[in-house]
This record gives sequence, C-alpha cells and structure tokens, in this order.
Amino acid sequence: MSAVRDVHYYEPAKGHGLPHDPFNAIVGPRPIGWISTRAVDGTLNLAPYSFFNAFNYTPPLVGFSSTSWKDTVANIEATGEFCWNLATRDLAEAMNATSASVGPEVDEFALAGLTPAESRKVGVPRVAESRVSFECRLAQLIRLTDAAGTPVDAWLSIGEVVAVHIDKALLKDGIYQTAEAHPILRAGGPAAYAEVSPEIMFDMRRPR
Ligand SMILES: Cc1cc2nc3c(=O)[nH]c(=O)nc-3n(C[C@H](O)[C@H](O)[C@H](O)COP(=O)(O)O)c2cc1C
Repeated sequence: MSAVRDVHYYEPAKGHGLPHDPFNAIVGPRPIGWISTRAVDGTLNLAPYSFFNAFNYTPPLVGFSSTSWKDTVANIEATGEFCWNLATRDLAEAMNATSASVGPEVDEFALAGLTPAESRKVGVPRVAESRVSFECRLAQLIRLTDAAGTPVDAWLSIGEVVAVHIDKALLKDGIYQTAEAHPILRAGGPAAYAEVSPEIMFDMRRPR
C-alpha cells in the first residue's frame, strides 16, 4: 500500500470546497435510530435519526442526536421515555415517510400506516411491524457544544434500554442474526442508503 495520496484537505469551519459536504458520506453508512415518543397530550410521534449508535453494554445505552430542537426531543424531555425500532428494508419507505416535516399534532404512525404496539416498561408504543425494539428511559439529554464550549443547535438523547423485543425468527440457536433482518443504514447525500444482507458479512477475531 502506498502512503502517498493526492489529498483533498479542508478545515470544516472554512468550508469543504466540494459540491456536497462529504462528512455524512464518510461517517457512513450509519444505523438508524427510528425513535417513537409520546407527547404529554398523548399524541404519538415517530421519526428516524441516523446520528445514532449504541454506547455501552451494562447497562445498555443508546443515543441519537437531533440537529435542532425537534418534536422527538421535546417529547423525551417531557416524558423521559422513548423506544428505538429497527428499520429494515421492508419498512424503508414507511421509515422515510415518518421523517416528514409535520407539526407535533401529527401522529407519524398513522401517517406512515404503521401500528403502535404497547410497551411493557414505558408508556411509549413500539412499531409493531419492526422486528426488534428497545424500550428506553432517558439517562441524559445533552446540548452539544463546539470545541470552545459554545452551545450548538444539537441535542444528544441517551437512553437506558430497559426492555428488548426480538422477533424469535431472527434467533438461530439463540444467536441474533443481524443480516437476516436486512437492516437499512443511512449513507451520504440526500438519498443514499445501504442494506445489510448475509453476503456482505465477514468474521474477524480480535487479537489476544
Ligand atoms: C434516514 C434519516 C435519518 C435522519 N437522521 C437525522 C438525525 O440524525 N438528526 C436529525 O436531527 N434529523 C434527522 N433526520 C430528519 C428527521 O427525521 C426529521 O427532521 C423529522 O421530521 C423529525 O421529526 P420530529 O420533529 O417528529 O422529531 C433524518 C431523516 C431520515 C430520513
């Protein structure tokens, strides 16, 4: 491998100098936090967030970032609860429909033709059509800052996973089969996604 490359160098604060910001495409594809919440008045809410990931095993913690103060964050701040739902290829169009910029009075379950399924530990319903869901309690709601400590218009919600629902068809001899669910991931640009399928998987063990 040659270490000599013709590099496009930029400092984000001064602009990337490219037709499209490559940041999202570089840090990608990203898993999707398909987040259901409930407003204090009971209105259901559902929206995808691809600034999403898992951060700890015990207790299991998941988090996502909203790049402005959105209905999902307002609901989580008010109720302290949310559910994460696995977005899979068969649900891609429904997931996308739930990203519509609509007011807090709009129930995106209904908008996308999805069914709310009652949760056991939280008052927020899961997406019944989703093959895996986590019920979460808010652990931290953090307003992000830049390196100088100046607050930015982004909020990170971190939730403890207090209950897990897995379609048993995804368990083979008790082992969860990531690719069998065909989860979708958000890639770069306005429209790009990737689909996880069995043929793209490979194994590699950590060195001792
Ligand atoms: C695949 C996908 C990923 C998204 N990821 C994010 C994200 O990480 N952060 C964010 O603020 N908005 C993200 N959005 C946009 C929100 O889903 C959209 O603003 C939505 O209307 C927010 O809904 P809410 O106001 O009900 O919370 C994403 C949209 C799509 C389709």
